[in-house]
Amino acid sequence: MYADRILSGMRPTGALHLGHYHGVLKNWITLQHEFECLFFVADWHALTTHYDTPEVIEQNVWEMIVDWLAAGVDPAHATLFIQSRVPEHAELHLLLSMITPLGWLERVPTYKDQQEKLTEKDLSTYGFLGYPLLQSADILIYRANRVPVGEDQVPHIEFTRELARRFNHLYGREPGFEHKAEAAAKKLGSKKGRLYEDLRTRYQEQGDDQALEAARALLNEQQNLTLIDRERLFGYLEGSGKMILVEPQAMLTSAARMPGLDGHKMSKSYSNTIALREDAAMVTKKIRTMPTDPARVRRTDPGDPEKCPVWQLHLVYGDAAMREWVQNGCRSAGIGCLECKQPVIDAVLAEQAPMRERAASYLDDPTLIRNIIADGCEKARKLAQETMRDVRNAMGLGYS
Ligand code: TRP
Ligand code: SF4
Repeated sequence: MYADRILSGMRPTGALHLGHYHGVLKNWITLQHEFECLFFVADWHALTTHYDTPEVIEQNVWEMIVDWLAAGVDPAHATLFIQSRVPEHAELHLLLSMITPLGWLERVPTYKDQQEKLTEKDLSTYGFLGYPLLQSADILIYRANRVPVGEDQVPHIEFTRELARRFNHLYGREPGFEHKAEAAAKKLGSKKGRLYEDLRTRYQEQGDDQALEAARALLNEQQNLTLIDRERLFGYLEGSGKMILVEPQAMLTSAARMPGLDGHKMSKSYSNTIALREDAAMVTKKIRTMPTDPARVRRTDPGDPEKCPVWQLHLVYGDAAMREWVQNGCRSAGIGCLECKQPVIDAVLAEQAPMRERAASYLDDPTLIRNIIADGCEKARKLAQETMRDVRNAMGLGYS
């Protein structure tokens, strides 16, 4: 039983590269051992910007899943699925659209930014405006409370929180709520249950903020409560209704910026990437032809690592001794640039070797991946259906 549920998604718009590995996938791989994790391919999100090139999406969905598995995302520890195979996301998106003020969507910074950036595309579509809402549905449908994302996505998480709050405010009066909350309090055990009741009374009758804090801390420590019971107890504590949807928190992926072949951030749009499973000869060639400090025209000219993109890669891959070797060798012209690049080539190839190996076993037998995803979709769908039942009931659609 996990206390936290993590969810994250990625759009299948191109081959993954080492920037994705260092920036996102390594983090997922750590998280999958610590939390319940759901990771999915956001193919509908890809369509919001790539609606005129569906072949890009089709091609990249399975490639991306191979990349995840190659990197070490482990289907025994994380649930992997494809957004469009869990159509409940679309139903929640629709139902949430009923209560989403247009102004909230128009104010999300990525909306105008992306429209201005991607001028070659017409993004004045309904789907694109609804991008953050679809993302909210992705998150809320699993009652995920933590969402690992990059800085650029924080406004989307904030949007999701506001929407969950609005939903709970509008529909959070669950029939029999008090009864269910009291039943949940019993599950704390008699001693902790009594403490919870005492703290709750002190807060509600005397407005004792310290009691509120203490009760929250008590709930946060509980490992054996279901998410929904925990949300009930939080709601009961403060006298509000049931939290039908859980407000998620962004988990900022550490700002580790993976430098590309030109020293700028590695990104498809700068054409400075090394693909996750790029073949060894190509990796070697790409690094051997990387630009270096322009002052080193001849082998005998000393250089300055600070002015060289290769140094950025040594910062990612080299240990202290290696870095000292580069610093001294470069500044004294004691080493040549190709010599300096070799350890980087070796490190990248060593990093990729297990990935290539893992990928090979999946590429040999594509049914493996199909099965992993079929399993993941089924698990995800079960969770999604539970939430949808509550949402439909809350919105007056629970006819039976
Ligand atoms: N918008 C995210 C991105 O571009 C992808 C995404 C879609 C996502 N749905 C999500 C991320 C839900 C986290 C949670 O990176
Ligand atoms: Fe760059 Fe290394 Fe050449 Fe110095 S020696 S310029 S750090 S590649």
